[in-house]
Amino acid sequence: AIPKSININEVDYETNEHWTNVTPSIVSLTDRSLHVHESHPVSILREMIEQKLNSTDKAFNIYNNFKPVVSVYDNFDSLGFPEDHPGRSKSDTYYVNDKHLLRTHTSAHEMKCFKDIKSDQSSSNSGRSGFLISADVYRRDEIDRTHYPAFHQMEGARIWKREKALNSNKEPQHIVQLRKDIKKLGDQLEKEETKLIVEDDKSLEGNPKQDYMTELEVELCQQHLKRSVELVVSEVFNQKITSMKNSNVADIPKELKVRWIKAYFPWTAPSWEIEVWWQGDWLEVCGCGLVREQVLLNSGFEKDSTIGWAFGLGLDRIAMLLFEVPDIRLFWTMDERFHTQFIKGKINPFVPYSKYPGTLRDVSFWLANDDNAIEVHENDVMEIVRNEGGDLVESVKLIDEFTSSKSGKKSLCYRINYQSMDRNVTNEEINEIQEKVRDELVNKYNVELR
Ligand code: PHE
Repeated sequence: AIPKSININEVDYETNEHWTNVTPSIVSLTDRSLHVHESHPVSILREMIEQKLNSTDKAFNIYNNFKPVVSVYDNFDSLGFPEDHPGRSKSDTYYVNDKHLLRTHTSAHEMKCFKDIKSDQSSSNSGRSGFLISADVYRRDEIDRTHYPAFHQMEGARIWKREKALNSNKEPQHIVQLRKDIKKLGDQLEKEETKLIVEDDKSLEGNPKQDYMTELEVELCQQHLKRSVELVVSEVFNQKITSMKNSNVADIPKELKVRWIKAYFPWTAPSWEIEVWWQGDWLEVCGCGLVREQVLLNSGFEKDSTIGWAFGLGLDRIAMLLFEVPDIRLFWTMDERFHTQFIKGKINPFVPYSKYPGTLRDVSFWLANDDNAIEVHENDVMEIVRNEGGDLVESVKLIDEFTSSKSGKKSLCYRINYQSMDRNVTNEEINEIQEKVRDELVNKYNVELR
């Protein structure tokens, strides 16, 4: 049974038996704030990006202290998520109760930050015209070396106030400004030592523009967005390349390939994703697009008054590759041997302090298919293992699945790799965890162990 209330970041939340699915092990992550620990890889990366984006005109307000519990409204409704969007489901999202959840993305704070710009504009007219938000975000997901239920994102946005042309042979002020801003970004990109090779998808087929924007505005706003994100990618990977050169690594990339792909997000149109080619794989870095007017209206801007863009960038995968961190759990370790290796402002590869052996354990079971059947989502299995085993679990994989032709029952077999990042684990310890995992599967989902 779940407790009546849960305390997260010093606030008590009443639970709700149909909605609450946060567990103690997840709640324990909510006060870590790794992204502001000076010498943590995620924080070093965050600062590097903030500095680069604010280096030309200090356009961005910076927010790094938003707490992870947000309303369902802020995370989904304010951004135009339809009622039946899969992101809302309990199998993907950690709910505190029916009205609160652990934010699944930093976009949950867009409206608040747009409102801040709006109130700056009306008071002094000299405020900044964008923001950068970094924070921990939470998603129920599988367990392996690159997935952890908490990770970090940086949200960025820029807006321009639309002006009328003063006379017919002059361009409106915001168009002039956009052209200038784009030129500055282009100049900065030119200066990087290893140049980006960009494969752009500019077609708006199936990725339509919003009616309230002119074609020219869409074109320029899109260019500003793409050049800004490219500048981030270029800065980060150029720094990595420099650090590789300094340590005499053999295979240093001679060029950096990126590609833009059209995407869909309920609160931007048109939308894109950018991927970076790194060591033989396309790495998904960031989703973005031109902000939908409804979001700006929700934030208090007048109709037709404002245009802008937003992006959301995943920090952990990039940090793993910059700092050569082989397992995402290391970011969350309390072991000093990890944390003392990194220094603010510097990219250096992680030196593994030791490799501890792993221990495989399988659990197989029949799913009930009668009146007592309870639907089991794969993420529910993950959650049980995670809650019992915590960071001792390296990965969980479905290795066998079949349906008996006789009984019609389905059998599943999951393989768990227990392996600590920090120490040797005893067999007794693992047996105890494995026993609890088996018990919980029976208690919660009525499965028949094999
Ligand atoms: N929030 C989106 C995600 O988590 C990324 C995004 C941010 C997309 C802002 C568009 C604009 O995938």
